[in-house]
Amino acid sequence: MQNIFDEHVVEHLIGVEARGACLTMETGFEALRSLGLEDFADVLWNMPVAETPNLSAVLPKMTSDDVTITWTGAAGHRLLQQSVSFVRSCSENYTTITGQSLQDKRILDFGCGYGRFLRLFSFYSNDVQGVDAWELSLGHSREAGFGDRVRKSDAVPCSLPFDEPFDFLFSFSVFTHLSEASTVASLAALRTAAKKGAVLAITIRPIEFWTVVNEGITHLDASKIDTRRLIEYHKNVGFAYHVQGATEESLPNEHYGDTSLTLDWLTKNALGWQLERLDRSLNDRQQRYVFLRAV
Ligand SMILES: C[S@@+](CC[C@H](N)C(=O)[O-])C[C@H]1O[C@@H](n2cnc3c(N)ncnc32)[C@H](O)[C@@H]1O
Repeated sequence: MQNIFDEHVVEHLIGVEARGACLTMETGFEALRSLGLEDFADVLWNMPVAETPNLSAVLPKMTSDDVTITWTGAAGHRLLQQSVSFVRSCSENYTTITGQSLQDKRILDFGCGYGRFLRLFSFYSNDVQGVDAWELSLGHSREAGFGDRVRKSDAVPCSLPFDEPFDFLFSFSVFTHLSEASTVASLAALRTAAKKGAVLAITIRPIEFWTVVNEGITHLDASKIDTRRLIEYHKNVGFAYHVQGATEESLPNEHYGDTSLTLDWLTKNALGWQLERLDRSLNDRQQRYVFLRAV
């Protein structure tokens, strides 16, 4: 464990083990919160740890690098840094918009994938739920230990499968992929799942995404995509979408591909949401953070 963590973290974990007080995932999270966000995240990124059998039994297992790379393009420390940037921005902007802290709030991760942010937002609250339209993604979250926190949604949802409304809702790297029909429906479904005054954080791609595709450094093959047309769509319509499978090897998926959209388009189409604030992390340039408030 000394090879993985600094001394203060090792001492903290040994103390928690010695007390033997972690019987549930919630008490496991609670035992780590006093470490602060990034050490909290680092411990979760390395679970299970052989020397901490009690904690490892209740905390979620970290997903394998091959899955995190396929779902989110990075693994290990780089993934942790990119992820923590978003979490810190959400915490700061939630407080600026509402005047309250994220602590103990009811939180929803829309398109939760393998549960990367189910882990990290547990720094603030034990009430962090996830929803995703793909069984394969939900399977990875369940395998990590989030079985009782994740539910299935429709690709073009009318509503989301929760009875109690949320204070904070977020969706990282999901609106960067959805069709226009799915985007409009998902924003409306999220509004029905939100309390009045709740905050929604989504990520969107800037127009430069299509230029980066042309440079050949994304998962897309530029030679098979008409990026000039997509840039025109972004400029003229405000929404550009390249459906997955349209020209690649994978099977077409009508509502999933690659998407860029403008703030103007969002303002006109995100009914019941008001644009409040913007942010971005320059270590993950293709994810612009947009904060909306439920009105
Ligand atoms: C690039 S991954 C991001 C996963 C997760 N948000 C993260 O950042 O770690 C995109 C996720 O969107 C999910 N997804 C695809 N279509 C969706 C839809 N229509 N509604 C909700 N989730 C969807 C996929 O299953 C996948 O988990």
